Amino acid sequence: MKSPIIAPSILSADFARLGEEVRAVDAAGADWIHLDVMDGHFVPNLTFGPPVIKALRPHSRKPFDVHLMIAPADPYLAAFAEAGADTITVHAEAGPHTHRSLQTIRSLGKRAGLALNPGTPAAAVEPLIDMIDLVLVMTVNPGFGGQIFLGSALETVSRVRTMAAGRDIDIEVDGGIGPETVARAAAAGANVFVAGNAVFRDGPGRYAHHIAAIRQGAEGAGGGGAGLSC
Ligand code: DX5
Ligand code: ZN
Repeated sequence: MKSPIIAPSILSADFARLGEEVRAVDAAGADWIHLDVMDGHFVPNLTFGPPVIKALRPHSRKPFDVHLMIAPADPYLAAFAEAGADTITVHAEAGPHTHRSLQTIRSLGKRAGLALNPGTPAAAVEPLIDMIDLVLVMTVNPGFGGQIFLGSALETVSRVRTMAAGRDIDIEVDGGIGPETVARAAAAGANVFVAGNAVFRDGPGRYAHHIAAIRQGAEGAGGGGAGLSC
């Protein structure tokens, strides 16, 4: 079994000090840095785009996990790749040509992720499974940090885990993940855990403690999924 991957979302960081915040979570034990890109159209909130990601890139060597909550995504994929993304995740609901988006991401030399909203069935993954390196299952409705975890999404996690058997696919949960919820997500088959509020809520002095608590919760549940990439 591989180790769980903890990916703090800088959506909950201090936006006036983003470089320092990335360095702080990196030093505190983050495995990946999760970057939430929102367009005020696909989701009712706005965050940042490629120039900010490019500016953050020198602040950490950890993989940049870029979660695109934008529609359309295709015109911007190359810019996110050039900005320093390692994984680029598009939403299944964001457009009619998800297969093309995943193809484009891989052709840019990046890992391709597909995200599912809580209302989207796991079956959306099936026809695309050969194009996917990561499935992101939303455990809140996308758009904001600090929301309540939706346990109903764990059924989707289990189904995707079964579908991904024997393949090198990461299964990521995003939204309301913390020490209290992570074990259930891990038990359902997730191996990558995004956490915003649960990492950043008490300031830099507590980042290491919070990341360790989430990791411990995932490991306690046997988290790390079954035979996955690191
Ligand atoms: C929500 C974002 C999440 C968010 C998670 O649309 O995709 O990554 O930052 O925040 P928490 O962990 O606070 O729910
Ligand atoms: Zn996210």
